[in-house]
Amino acid sequence: MRIDMVKVNENYQKLPGSYLFSTIARKVNAYSEANPDKKMIRLGIGDVTQPLAPAIIEAMHKAVDEMACAETFHGYAPDLGYEFLRSAIVKNDYLARNCDIAVDEIFVSDGAKSDSGNIQEIFAKNNRIAVCDPVYPVYVDSNVMAGRTGTYDAVSETWSDVIYMPCTMENDFVPEFPRETPDLIYLCLPNNPTGTTITKDALQGWVDYANRCKAVIIYDAAYEAYISEKEVAHSIYECEGARTCAIELKSFSKNAGFTGVRLGYAVVPKDLKCGDVSLNAMWARRHGTKFNGAPYIVQRAGEAVYSEEGKAQLKEQVAYYMRNAAVIKNGLTEAGYTVFGGVNAPYIWLKTPEGMTSWAFFDYLLERANVVGTPGAGFGPSGEGYFRLTAFGAYENTIAALERIRKLGL
Ligand code: MLT
Repeated sequence: MRIDMVKVNENYQKLPGSYLFSTIARKVNAYSEANPDKKMIRLGIGDVTQPLAPAIIEAMHKAVDEMACAETFHGYAPDLGYEFLRSAIVKNDYLARNCDIAVDEIFVSDGAKSDSGNIQEIFAKNNRIAVCDPVYPVYVDSNVMAGRTGTYDAVSETWSDVIYMPCTMENDFVPEFPRETPDLIYLCLPNNPTGTTITKDALQGWVDYANRCKAVIIYDAAYEAYISEKEVAHSIYECEGARTCAIELKSFSKNAGFTGVRLGYAVVPKDLKCGDVSLNAMWARRHGTKFNGAPYIVQRAGEAVYSEEGKAQLKEQVAYYMRNAAVIKNGLTEAGYTVFGGVNAPYIWLKTPEGMTSWAFFDYLLERANVVGTPGAGFGPSGEGYFRLTAFGAYENTIAALERIRKLGL
């Protein structure tokens, strides 16, 4: 008989509960099954509802047809992405904004969720991470899985080795430089979940800080397309010195509706080094080993995002969602709620009424209005007392949800 058993990665055992959006989906499904007559309106997970833009669909159809002929068929994609897509990204997302980024600094992936979970692998286990609180749970959970976060305190709902940067209405949701020096700093701007952001000048402060303390910023710019204010940077590389301290992650999910199609990219500048070691070379090694490239059809769809028709159609799609954001923001404000976000991001962050906890308000909305949102506490302890609604629903449903919430009274 074997005495030693195979051992699991014990770090996984430390994770409290399940992934936030899985927990919510389970709760909502249980409620729906018990109440089949109720028409639920889902403004919880930030999943898009509008169909893919015609220019994207056309590019996908064309790519599908190519796959049907031996002469134009495509097998494995290049590890780091097709040149046609990487060039379109560089031209439109960087050169057009005077950001100095080259094609061999772009790594095409299946989305920013994977990249934001995987990127920590190229850093040593004893690095200290700093995260905003509240925060997109993937940043923390993926570091827990890697054994980088120490022990969990169930009372404070924090990890001993994570540096938390509270973002609340008291500091206008602007993170302050932490007292302890971090090695890796996760910033998501415009922010998920609070829907708020910081100015380019404030971001420059973070770049200077990171360069000073030789930290690396993991900059998640998934919501960049929703920026409406001039003083907000669309890329961290608009800031001077970002090439030596920042990795940027981008998604096609929110700007182009690819949540079910899956496409994203990471930018790792060649100037970004830890001592003599190039992070660009490390990420290329990791990507080449563990990833076989996003599908050809999907990369052609990504290329269409940057065509003239694609850009025009997606501008309309973003405007559609931002009209929802205005409906939610204005409707809640008129109903007496304290509301944030929704100007440079498709998320509205509200103070729960009458001192309710985030989860109590979640249940209240679910049961009394049949509206699904996301409890702020699910994003971290400083999210307690807040609640997130997404602008990614259909316009009619968004209007109906607001009607229902207003009818509840405060
Ligand atoms: C969210 O709701 O926070 C996002 O949809 C999650 C994601 O993009 O993975």
